[in-house]
Amino acid sequence: MMMTTSTKLWSGRFRSELSTETEDFTQSIAVDSRMVAQDIWGSQAHAIMLARQGIISDNDLRQILHWLGKAEADFREGKFILQPEKEDVHMNVEAYLIEGAGSEYGGKLHTARSRNDQVLVDAHLYIREQILKTQQGLSRLCQAFLSIAKAHTETVMPGYTHTQHAQPISLGFWATAYVSMFLRDQKRLNMAYELVNMNPLGACALAGTSFPIDRHLTTQLLGFDATHEHALDIISSRDFIVETLFALTLLMTSLSRLSEEIVCWTTYEFNIAVLDDAYATGSSIMPQKKNADIAELTRGRTGRVYGALMDLLTNLKGLPMGYNRDLQEDKPPLWTAFDVVQSCLGILPGLLETTEFKADRMEALANANFATATELANFLVSEQGLPFRKCHEIVGGVVGALAKMGKTFHDWDDTQKQLQARGIDLPIPQLQRILDPILALHHNRSFGGTSPREVKRMVGEFETKLNEIDDQIRARQEKIDTAHQKTARIIEQVLDGKEIATIDL
Ligand code: ARG
Repeated sequence: MMMTTSTKLWSGRFRSELSTETEDFTQSIAVDSRMVAQDIWGSQAHAIMLARQGIISDNDLRQILHWLGKAEADFREGKFILQPEKEDVHMNVEAYLIEGAGSEYGGKLHTARSRNDQVLVDAHLYIREQILKTQQGLSRLCQAFLSIAKAHTETVMPGYTHTQHAQPISLGFWATAYVSMFLRDQKRLNMAYELVNMNPLGACALAGTSFPIDRHLTTQLLGFDATHEHALDIISSRDFIVETLFALTLLMTSLSRLSEEIVCWTTYEFNIAVLDDAYATGSSIMPQKKNADIAELTRGRTGRVYGALMDLLTNLKGLPMGYNRDLQEDKPPLWTAFDVVQSCLGILPGLLETTEFKADRMEALANANFATATELANFLVSEQGLPFRKCHEIVGGVVGALAKMGKTFHDWDDTQKQLQARGIDLPIPQLQRILDPILALHHNRSFGGTSPREVKRMVGEFETKLNEIDDQIRARQEKIDTAHQKTARIIEQVLDGKEIATIDL
């Protein structure tokens, strides 16, 4: 057979070797190294399909599967190292195969396949598992918040608007707000998963193929939920990565906001939370320092995830239909985003679980700065039949006068007198009840409000939803594992000499 002297598998039309600069510039080994196992599984499924369809022989298949199996074992043992001269993971695996099986067998694997659909298979297989891993981490974080919520349905603290004391809420209410938010992140990750778990294999270079391939068979072998139909769309599109990145981006926004709260709450000024020593760091010069570096780094790394999304969107906006080499750049930003999000999700649950929340200080703050003023106005509406606007004005006047004197509602005589001056006569014990932040919590029992009753109800509801998500993650992982095991069983039978036509697929 005619072969050129070049080392490249695609070198047929080329007359001279690639310059090392071109090689260095175009290779994607570092990025692709995460997808070796996926590339091999995709190739195994493709080969099985080719043989089943009579496109390659049983003997070809046996040789191909034997050497792909060796590649997999060598990879697992760290003996199959990708070489940059071979450009990418696909060429490395194929070259391994051809070196082992010889070109008369190994050279047949790439029939009815292109690297264009191959790289998508690898990416889809890798990304779906990373989404599940991210969802698991997020689920753990939600559990940490739910533990806080359960322990603190009556722990009162000031709720903030404009970072100013607004109304009393419970710490549990605060914690369930994050779970409520993260459940939407779970939904977004689910939607991304649905787009990711579709089979691109068989789109080939862009136009499909004249070989009688069975795309639905590889869909089933690789544990995909559906076959992505349109070959040109498949090859040209990366919206499944954009959706994944967007889900990660919004999740990172929430993690960053949480981090901001951790930074604030652990300051001397707020002083409502204390980090465990295991989750804080010190200063090289100031002996007294205890810093919330984990929260700061989470906040600080958020830009990398945002940048990843912007990177890919910008990449895609100028691309004509078909494969363009620009698309090789879809993976680095996604890898970065997964790495950042997963490492944050790895550490934040432990940080939260070990954080001490200072209930006394929270309660003192809730009492110190008129946080129950709305309760007093509401009381006047209910009990005195006055319009809310009027009550707002009365209580606003009382607060203004007390603040001017440097007093709070707790200077009960003054509070009573200020109300009397505005035509409202209330005994002090009654005032104390109206203005008690803990009682205020109990009163705010509207659907989704801060009352302990509502927070407990929401904890129950969120727990159910989280269990459903955990079940779904497990079912999806199981489907992947089952498909992988099935491929392994088929391979075993082929290697045992069984004909592919007689094997139960
Ligand atoms: N390394 C390439 C990528 O990640 C694989 C596909 C290459 N296809 C090609 N026609 N050069 O996109």
